Amino acid sequence: MNYKQWLAEQLAGKLEGVSRETLAELIEYPPNPQMGDLSLPCFKLSKQLRKAPQAIAEELKAGWSGHALVSRIDAVSGYFNVYLVPEQFASQVVNEVLTQGDRYGAQDIGQGRSVVIDFSSPNIAKTFHIGHLRSTVIGNALYRIFKFMGYNSVGVNHLGDWGTQFGKLIVAYKLWGNREAVEADGIGELQRLYVKFHDEADIHPELEDEARGWFVKLEQGDEEALKLWRWFVDISLKEFQKMYDLLGVTFDSYAGESFYNDKMAAVLEELKAKQLLEEDDGALLVRLDDYQMPPALMVKKDGGTLYHTRDVTAAIYRKNTYDFDKAIYVTDAGQSLHFKQWFKVIELMGYDWAKQLVHVPFGKVSLEGAKLSTRKGNVVNLEELLTKAIEKTREIIDEKNPGMENKDEVAREVGVGAIIFNDLSNNRIKDIVFSWDEALNFDGETGPYVQYTHARACSVLRKAEADGGAAAGAGALAAAHLTNAEAQGVLRELYLFKERIEQAMDRLEPSIISRYLVDLAQKFNHFYHECPILKVEDAELRQARLALVRCVSITLKNGLSLIGLKAPEKI
Ligand code: ARG
Repeated sequence: MNYKQWLAEQLAGKLEGVSRETLAELIEYPPNPQMGDLSLPCFKLSKQLRKAPQAIAEELKAGWSGHALVSRIDAVSGYFNVYLVPEQFASQVVNEVLTQGDRYGAQDIGQGRSVVIDFSSPNIAKTFHIGHLRSTVIGNALYRIFKFMGYNSVGVNHLGDWGTQFGKLIVAYKLWGNREAVEADGIGELQRLYVKFHDEADIHPELEDEARGWFVKLEQGDEEALKLWRWFVDISLKEFQKMYDLLGVTFDSYAGESFYNDKMAAVLEELKAKQLLEEDDGALLVRLDDYQMPPALMVKKDGGTLYHTRDVTAAIYRKNTYDFDKAIYVTDAGQSLHFKQWFKVIELMGYDWAKQLVHVPFGKVSLEGAKLSTRKGNVVNLEELLTKAIEKTREIIDEKNPGMENKDEVAREVGVGAIIFNDLSNNRIKDIVFSWDEALNFDGETGPYVQYTHARACSVLRKAEADGGAAAGAGALAAAHLTNAEAQGVLRELYLFKERIEQAMDRLEPSIISRYLVDLAQKFNHFYHECPILKVEDAELRQARLALVRCVSITLKNGLSLIGLKAPEKI
């Protein structure tokens, strides 16, 4: 049940010319329960109604005819405050969570419409860097959030698998590479060859022409070029896949930049026909001077296409293929101009769906402690990072719970979870400084803390069942036992879950969910420390508290899953 909507309905018609929708938008949950459970601030209505806010609140109070869900109302300092009957609130929330189970929090806002999410998108033959990790983690969370909200999420890994760099790589491999070395060291060796190419090309500039020649061959479908290119792609994908497996991330499409090779000509024709292309010193570009942006380069002097060309082509392809409601691009904030430019190109082409294109930028990650960085400053081997997180978690588990089964699996779920959660714990646009102690702190505002709290709730439920009691949530709920402040604090958080997911979706901000989970876990731990559960004699009281514990375990698990974390039952 949505209490804002419900109260808006109760109040609709009581204030002339103020609609139910307006009321629903204005109603708040006061930060402090002393000020009520729901509150309508009357300030914004003052002008329209030509009355002082307090007078409006008083009017609502006078006109209130009572409701079974409400224990008290008040008009204070321009606010109309509503106090719910705690027992009713408890029984409504608990019943909703228990009946909806793993669907608790889900909605059908999307009604099956598509949202295309372009995320991760690493570059072939180059390291998967920390920016790609952020894109993967944020994109995966958005993917799951949209799905839970009733959208058809389409996850696209727009691999950087095309461009002149492949001509360079082919030349380098033919001159200095060998199969064994590439097979042994994969991307590492490909990257070395690429660097060597640049070093050598400084001395022998003719290598650049040779590289261009090979890329042209590749674009024209030359067999030898294609074979090498495909091999580079396979080797890289195999390495990327290890990361995706660890993170539990999947994609619906791996159509990378190369996929658009045969589709760009038509788009260039279209741009020409729409008189958007301008020639400049042999290159073709779309001028964006009127929009205070540098031009979007579409074709280079040598005839080669660019990142922009492929993004414009891909967007048109995706619109035609998925008929999306929104197309989201998750990359670091450094690419903001690139997206602004080509979104404008789509608009200039006359496509009104240009407004459905959204760039979701994020800040940088730096790492605390020199040990983490390899030769090249902040470039970290991410597989190592994840492996290390798993190892460290394993050590903590060995210490905390030496007799546990499935230690490896749990260490993996918690270690990887710590990295993901750390990435999602602040607004995405903020730069983050990674610290091992912070990320793995079981008592901090971390993934392990939330996962551990979930496992604690599961453990209580397990023990209750082992004691021979009825399963938590079975039988009628004696909601009168959940009216104390600690239980009500938990209930209020449980109730807020749905709204938080919606906010996370609207603002494309998964951190709203991670922060919510920390709040819920804290409220639950407070309840757990203050209110005995298994030790209480009164069967009804025990049953009611167990039902609340079950609700917390369900909600934590659903929330963790939305941001891509597992919820092990034992830690
Ligand atoms: N491959 C690019 C990079 O590593 C990211 C691609 C993002 N997606 C896009 N459609 N441009 O920076």
